[in-house]
Amino acid sequence: MEDRDLTVPIGRMKLKNPVVVSSGTFGFGEEFEDFFDLNRLGAIIPKGISLKPMAGNPPPRIFETEGGILNSIGLQNPGFQEFIKNKLPHYKRLKTQLIINFFGNNEKEYVELARRFDDTPGISGLEMNVSCPNVKKGGIVFGTDPKIVYRLVRAVRKATALTLIVKLSPNVTDIASMAESAEEGGADAVSLVNTFRAMAVNIHTKRPELGNIIGGLSGPAIKPIALRMVWEVSRAVNIPTIGMGGIMNAKDAIEFILVGASAIQIGTANLVNPKTGIEVLQGIKKYLAENRVNRFQDLIGALG
Ligand SMILES: Cc1cc2nc3c(=O)[nH]c(=O)nc-3n(C[C@H](O)[C@H](O)[C@H](O)COP(=O)(O)O)c2cc1C
Repeated sequence: MEDRDLTVPIGRMKLKNPVVVSSGTFGFGEEFEDFFDLNRLGAIIPKGISLKPMAGNPPPRIFETEGGILNSIGLQNPGFQEFIKNKLPHYKRLKTQLIINFFGNNEKEYVELARRFDDTPGISGLEMNVSCPNVKKGGIVFGTDPKIVYRLVRAVRKATALTLIVKLSPNVTDIASMAESAEEGGADAVSLVNTFRAMAVNIHTKRPELGNIIGGLSGPAIKPIALRMVWEVSRAVNIPTIGMGGIMNAKDAIEFILVGASAIQIGTANLVNPKTGIEVLQGIKKYLAENRVNRFQDLIGALG
């Protein structure tokens, strides 16, 4: 079982296995070290980083729904400088790939951050989150306009030689065209899905459950939609797709791989069971053995 080749190339990176932990659901990693050896993961993606620190949204920021959670963290983070000084050193000891999730308020900030991370040793790749409001364009989300996605990715591509993954917003009618724009702009891979815009109401207080009113839905409730989107995107582009959205166990992960995901990310499940990543990895190995598949890569897109 251990002999199987689990490696998978994503741009210039070679992941030792396809199991990655998703941004915002794994903190900065330290919190999870008591549960398992983080080096066993294919890659780690910390919380999204912006140029300046961000305080995030007013509480409550998390609300549990049927089959999922709503969050309106509001991309709270310590900002670039603090991350480099106090968080990055912690990752230096790790022997797995570190992918940095980042975002900006405008194109200039995206480019500036990509350049700075490019100059920072110890980083394997960048995941740019385009599910953020564009301050200059009156708050319209970057990732909902294919022309803006193309321009933004092209500009960031010029600023970094690191593997560039574009994380797509699912809040669009045609996600495949967003992926195509990212590919044309020079992305090495696309990851999807981010959370779905959603809300919840308390009938007793007659108030929204979240301080920000609207939040993002994640967890098992979104899995069938995420799966459909990963299938559509994988057929539309030639670069690798990294799939996520409600993956709670190995079976869920294998579904995403069969529809075309080269790797998968575990998000909300980390909050329920911190060991999910390792359990998913073991489950994938078992599935490969039972189905006599020697190379993980042979499973990618093997949907009949
Ligand atoms: C509490 C929380 C915080 C998140 N923060 C980020 C973030 O900073 N950047 C980002 O790109 N995605 C963020 N996400 C989205 C997840 O990385 C993932 O795309 C999404 O939750 C769908 O996967 P899941 O259903 O497995 O959680 C966050 C999700 C949650 C639940």
